[in-house]
Amino acid sequence: MDEIIKEYQQKFARFFGAGRSFAFWKGRVALYALLRALDVGQNDEIILPGYTCVMNVNPIKYVGAKPVYVDIEPDTFNLNVNLLEEKIKNKTKAIIAQHTYGYPCEMDTIMKIAQSNGISVIEDCCLALGSKYKGRIVGTFGLAGYFSSQWNKPYTTGIGGMAITSDRELAERIETLTANELCPPPGREVFMLRMQLMLYRLFIYPRTTALAQSLFRYLTKKGAVVGSSSMREFEPVQTDDFFKGISKMQARSGIRQLGKIEKNIAHRRKMAQLYDELLAAKGFKPGKDPRDWAKPVLVRYPVRIKEKQKALAQAAKAGIELGSWFECPLHPIETPLASYDYKLGMCPEAEKAAREVVNLPLHLRASKKTIERSVDFITGFTQAG
Ligand SMILES: Cc1ncc(COP(=O)(O)O)c(C=O)c1O
Repeated sequence: MDEIIKEYQQKFARFFGAGRSFAFWKGRVALYALLRALDVGQNDEIILPGYTCVMNVNPIKYVGAKPVYVDIEPDTFNLNVNLLEEKIKNKTKAIIAQHTYGYPCEMDTIMKIAQSNGISVIEDCCLALGSKYKGRIVGTFGLAGYFSSQWNKPYTTGIGGMAITSDRELAERIETLTANELCPPPGREVFMLRMQLMLYRLFIYPRTTALAQSLFRYLTKKGAVVGSSSMREFEPVQTDDFFKGISKMQARSGIRQLGKIEKNIAHRRKMAQLYDELLAAKGFKPGKDPRDWAKPVLVRYPVRIKEKQKALAQAAKAGIELGSWFECPLHPIETPLASYDYKLGMCPEAEKAAREVVNLPLHLRASKKTIERSVDFITGFTQAG
């Protein structure tokens, strides 16, 4: 393996205080590696919140297992631990604790339930880099965790993923699996991704994001750019080139991003507080974590509003970077839910959140002015939810 990839893995593991970390082409690939290394297979069941991205469900289907959805609790958008035990059966192999938007899951309860039933916990930290639960960083509670560095994640390497674990046996199994099966990313895709990252750093600012996203989606459909997801990923069938490793270019970019991680985290915390204050001053319920001890590092700032579709339509024109996810229990709205074992009505709180929640920027390019404009927009065009 290349030295630069080794260095990225070591630095990432060090940030978490985890034993080992393994880099992949995307976050979903990291989850797939974890499921395979845990021997999850036909007829096994994996529990996860019914408020996620379908790309997070694909790996479960790829290994032949069944996703079992738990509804969320409305304040933190995380799986409702009161509904967890009733979902556990003999076939349950693991719980995916997704720290949604960066809010830490109720880890004490999740770990207790998992341990008493002899099942594993995998933490989805794709939206939560640096969040703390009772003083301890999320990603280090379960048997393993995984992270994404796709465009709108805590930091970006264009696309990218990482799995972490402090369990020696699991680490050895991941190592064997990757040695035998992981493919290198094709040079053409890496070249395109490098160009995209360069354009992103030069031109993508909160005012230009909406326009750039529409263009990017169009070009992805045409196969002209390396998209976050291809059309083939909207059905639960694994593609031949899915299990790919990370490139040196992404690893280099990841090392640079880790070098400024403390600045990134401090910025996110400060801007989230500004949203709390500005929204509260305008009579909105801020998206603040109600638990005093929770120290979230949010990836985006979620707000419930009553006119989500209208706000989204107008935001693009007004140059406001307004995120729509999650648009349905298995984002995006185009997902054929039945193919992923989801029936409408299964997770009512998640479906309600999907109708009401939009998210606002917190990344390093979102200045105080961006936050003020975003709050003016969201409170001016919609009513408090
Ligand atoms: C909560 C969550 N977990 C995992 C993933 C998968 O990450 P990636 O796009 O890097 O495969 C996503 C997708 O965006 C996500 O929103």
